[in-house]
Amino acid sequence: MRFEGKTVVVTGASSGLGRQLAHEFARRGAQLVLFARGEERLRETADECQKLGAAATLIVTGDVTQPQDCHRLVEQSLARFGGIDCFVANAGISMWTRFADMDDATIFRRLIETNFLGVVQCAQAALKPLQARRGMLVVISSIQAKVGVPFHSGYSASKHALEGWVDALRCEFDGTGVEILKVYPHWLAGTRLRENAFGSDGQPLGARKRSPSNSAITVELCAHKIAEAVAQRRQVLYVPWHLCFLPWLKLLMPGVLRRYIRGKVGHQES
Ligand SMILES: NC(=O)c1ccc[n+]([C@@H]2O[C@H](COP(=O)([O-])OP(=O)(O)OC[C@H]3O[C@@H](n4cnc5c(N)ncnc54)[C@H](OP(=O)(O)O)[C@@H]3O)[C@@H](O)[C@H]2O)c1
Repeated sequence: MRFEGKTVVVTGASSGLGRQLAHEFARRGAQLVLFARGEERLRETADECQKLGAAATLIVTGDVTQPQDCHRLVEQSLARFGGIDCFVANAGISMWTRFADMDDATIFRRLIETNFLGVVQCAQAALKPLQARRGMLVVISSIQAKVGVPFHSGYSASKHALEGWVDALRCEFDGTGVEILKVYPHWLAGTRLRENAFGSDGQPLGARKRSPSNSAITVELCAHKIAEAVAQRRQVLYVPWHLCFLPWLKLLMPGVLRRYIRGKVGHQES
């Protein structure tokens, strides 16, 4: 896919990976629709995209947990640009608490509503326009869709849910021309996910957030890899690529994998 004159919708475009993805598609000359709840940061992203070469930008504020907002996003995109070539379902939230320490189990509901149902609702609204253009649905998942990670049980569950849903959709979409790209990033540096993550009290961690992982990759690198994968109409992308071995390790040596993950996450505990 070439991006000049193409319409790309990015949810969660006001921060982190979504903002960087908007920059990537802007550099490639796309028409961009930028969606999130907070208007001010979206405006900043739109201004940056215009400077980087976006053909045009449209801001839509809303919440992916609200089906009517997802439909309004698609309606406004169609009204302004006449179609959708690529829909990037990126908006997401996280948690950082041991399951046993959780005071507020509604954390799980909020994670599923945003990370799973938020993607489903957007995809449902965007499906027909994507079919009309033989477009691409990009699902920003996580390596935690493949392996569970301590302190993230609800987050891992929400990303695992995407896994089965996308696999089923792929079967249904065969022959329709719509392609789905699943993206499995590692920890990312340069996002607000950790400060917005729910703690055991169900509140965002803010200044209590954990330090970044020493093996985190940059949002710039991740966004670049994703844009390349969209251009090539790929179906699966691990960033970095060697994460693709983790599902095999889980299958063949689950105990080794658990020790490895505990070690990786353990040093991030304050
Ligand atoms: N950071 C990592 O280590 C990492 C690793 C693997 C995968 N990922 C995935 O990458 C994606 C982006 O996360 P990020 O790390 O870039 O986090 P981030 O910096 O916190 O950005 C999250 C974005 O989603 C938006 N958002 C959150 N809830 C929303 C809702 N209900 N409706 C609409 N927009 C909403 C936020 O804007 P508003 O708050 O203004 O709505 C923001 O623009 C997520 O799907 C995440 O799971 C992240």
